[in-house]
Amino acid sequence: MRLIAANWKMHKTVSETEDYIRRFLELLGDVPDREVLLCPPFTALHRAGELLRETPVRLGAQNCHYEKSGAFTGEVSPVMLREVGCSYVIVGHSERRHIFGENDELINRKLVACLEEGLRPILCVGEKLEEREAGMTFKVVETQLRLALSGIEEHTDRIDVAYEPVWAIGTGVPATPEDAVSVHRFIGEILRELNPSASGKTRVLYGGSVKPANAGEFMRHPEVNGLLVGGASLDPESFSEIVRSF
Ligand code: PGA
Repeated sequence: MRLIAANWKMHKTVSETEDYIRRFLELLGDVPDREVLLCPPFTALHRAGELLRETPVRLGAQNCHYEKSGAFTGEVSPVMLREVGCSYVIVGHSERRHIFGENDELINRKLVACLEEGLRPILCVGEKLEEREAGMTFKVVETQLRLALSGIEEHTDRIDVAYEPVWAIGTGVPATPEDAVSVHRFIGEILRELNPSASGKTRVLYGGSVKPANAGEFMRHPEVNGLLVGGASLDPESFSEIVRSF
């Protein structure tokens, strides 16, 4: 089933989250053939979990730590996320990599921790503008994938991947569907090589300036198994439109 995920980033208080979810559920209606996921900030997860409990909409976090508990000031563990109702965690988002210095080794440890806790990670990969201009897109994506999945290749059926070119995130300039599809195909080949038996179970999402007006252009390609939406997911009208746009 295709996955349409909202990454709210550092937006929305608990009361704003309540308002959003009430409105979103009204607008969403019945969408039986796609999975819908909301990823609010940590502080809103517990309340969001209560509001979404009896609904088909899934809850996810935007980050996690790799230990279950311990002296890690400011961090939140997969066990804690599971308890408040999360079933997904975004791991290795480009803002985590480039603003907070997360490297592939750390991202790998987070993936391992999520899998141990039964959370489904969405591993984000994607090249920066200068890497794209240097013709390194495929190399960068391949390295990120191989390092992140190192040692957990046999579990790739329990992981989704989001291809998010860094230059397309929050810029209003998405990749062309054709460019995205060529990277999605390439990611699919690597995943098949790493774990032939999990083929097709890892969804590859596109993210980067997805809007109601362009979501359908990505989703009409069979290689695009879903979307990870930032800015346009902050408004329940626009996110429900994206979910229903194909
Ligand atoms: P955007 O962000 O939709 O605002 O470009 C996507 C993301 O960062 O996941």
